[in-house]
Amino acid sequence: MADISSETQPVPQHDILHGKRLLLIVGGGIAAYKCLDLIRRLKERHMQVRCILTKGGRQFVTPLSLSSLSGEKVYEDLFSLTDEAEMGHIRLSREADLVLVAPATADLMAKMATGQADDLATTALLATDKPVMIAPSMNTMMWQHPATRRNLDTLIRDGVRIIDPGAGDLACGEVGAGRLAEVPDLIAAIEGFFLDRFPHSALRGKHVLITAGPTREPLDPVRYIANRSSGKQGYALAAALVERGAKVTLVSGPTDLPCPAGVRRVDVETARDMLAACEAALPADAAICVAAVADWRPEDCAGNKIKKQDGAAPVLRLTENPDILKTLCARPKDRPALVIGFAAETEKIAEHARAKRLRKGCDWIVANDVSFTDGQSVMGADHNRVLLITPEEEFSWPETSKTDIARQLAEKIDHYFMQNQNKD
Ligand code: CTP
Repeated sequence: MADISSETQPVPQHDILHGKRLLLIVGGGIAAYKCLDLIRRLKERHMQVRCILTKGGRQFVTPLSLSSLSGEKVYEDLFSLTDEAEMGHIRLSREADLVLVAPATADLMAKMATGQADDLATTALLATDKPVMIAPSMNTMMWQHPATRRNLDTLIRDGVRIIDPGAGDLACGEVGAGRLAEVPDLIAAIEGFFLDRFPHSALRGKHVLITAGPTREPLDPVRYIANRSSGKQGYALAAALVERGAKVTLVSGPTDLPCPAGVRRVDVETARDMLAACEAALPADAAICVAAVADWRPEDCAGNKIKKQDGAAPVLRLTENPDILKTLCARPKDRPALVIGFAAETEKIAEHARAKRLRKGCDWIVANDVSFTDGQSVMGADHNRVLLITPEEEFSWPETSKTDIARQLAEKIDHYFMQNQNKD
């Protein structure tokens, strides 16, 4: 495995929680105070935390303390016109990677188990398409009551994950099981969720280098040569690989996209900068060149803006840029074990892509058709249709979202490392 521990990054963007979004539903229990510390710790890890506060929860913590710590508005009312206008309860429940109910009271659990939706919290829980985790907290007798056990069984069957309560002195004066799990345990459960989505991933801890987006090759201080690439496919791939536990360095040309959670992004402009950033990021276990690198750059970049000269158009002299993919493939000592290129083609897609794979020296190539269809190019679009070419096999994936393509490719890469992990 490649060692990248010597990197000097100011922000630990490889943290599994970095950039992940949590919807925290704060129920009505004395242990609600622990949520304040929980939010604080999660914010230190650069997680986005949005809170829904139930009526009961409001008796124990204030919306102001939750919003001060989370840096987000706190949502309380199902029928609030302003809230619905800003962020409807459906969106609120979907714009999260994980929903956590803490503390989950016996009442909230009963409502969840029976599918009730009579306030914002229960409505969001019913409307969400995201995984749900609950951290129960209640009196021991309530926790052990057959009704709660039944509800718990139903919730487990429904796919809800449970963070077991601890045992000890309870706020009601009794002793036994029912205490809300401590903050470190809540955090461990959240981390575990993000790590365990692919528990058998061979990509865990592997360093993957990805290039994405266009490059800009300056003509003068105000003009440049570039292309239509949006970076979407490369960014989606970075996110899909992080989901499987890879440490991803994304060397990106200029795009409007936010950096995917948990990814270390290095911003560059030109092809030469991109190559330098890639070389600096080595060693890597895999490299995937998705960037639409400008093949040529102006031979000279004027120091000042080129002015119009009475109808005489300037002549552009171009020179070839370095080929990043080819260079990475030819590295004598630290060539990544798996190098994947993308082939942007407008005709004879498979034929050109097969030849390109051999010419560049990469292991796999992903061919895509970038010709115009109905005046639209795949560059910048949300969908793509690709053909994956490996030395042994070819896979043609029907048109689907770039996110889906990224996930399918991540699965193939995972499989590759799984098969090769014992060969050395
Ligand atoms: N690539 C690269 N550096 C370059 C040009 C391309 O790393 N200077 C990479 C791309 O990221 C992609 C692959 O090479 O993974 C193929 O890019 P593509 O634009 O399809 O091919 P070209 O090399 O430009 O070849 P051609 O112009 O013949 O299509």
